[in-house]
Amino acid sequence: MNERVIESGVVPVITIDGPSGSGKGTVSRIIASRLGWHFLDSGALYRLVALAALRRHEDLAGEDKISSIARELDVEFKVDSGAGEPQILLEGSVVGSEIRSEQCGDAASKVAALPAVRESLLARQRDFRCLPGLVADGRDMGSVVFPDAKLKIFLDASPEERAQRRYKQLKEKGMSANLAGLLEEIKVRDARDRNRSVAPLVPAADAILVDSTNQGIDEVVAGILEEWSKLV
Ligand code: DC
Repeated sequence: MNERVIESGVVPVITIDGPSGSGKGTVSRIIASRLGWHFLDSGALYRLVALAALRRHEDLAGEDKISSIARELDVEFKVDSGAGEPQILLEGSVVGSEIRSEQCGDAASKVAALPAVRESLLARQRDFRCLPGLVADGRDMGSVVFPDAKLKIFLDASPEERAQRRYKQLKEKGMSANLAGLLEEIKVRDARDRNRSVAPLVPAADAILVDSTNQGIDEVVAGILEEWSKLV
């Protein structure tokens, strides 16, 4: 661990932003585990807000109601010691693969476009910043939530490659999937995430762009750790 960083009193943050299917979730978890740092899956927070709203049959465009759900969200991440997915508790009950469904992802993208919802989740996301460090995965981690992060990565891949990865993932989980449909959904969600008025999916000005279309997870992880090693 870099003494300079600790002495400065600032908890170091590595942000990894990018669209769904770019590999950022897996890459971020592995990096957090290798460095022994905390991990923030900010997409899961938006998905949990969406899930809570869907369960209450709320209008996903109702900004006041959805932002109050976001503010009062009773959620707990039970982290394991490895790079696996943490167990998530929503209102005291375990949430399984439900939040990873296409329906929940699509609803998350809708509620994430509401400025008051983003504002409601800001402090909750910043609370994850604890020593010895944080790897934060999302869309606006480097641009909005942690603008002072030591290292900012923007991980991308072509929509076709991302649809293939998602297809494989769903099949492996025994879920039904349609490749053409997934590609279409990815394009629609990308357009919504990239064009929204607040915190759009754009690389921070000081982010390093990484294209994972033709790179495996190990290669991407090694590249990011190499970048980090240049800073410490
Ligand atoms: O990363 P993910 O697919 O789990 O994210 C789900 C949705 O949440 C995605 O469509 C965009 C939104 N999101 C966001 O707007 N900002 C973040 N920091 C993380 C996710």
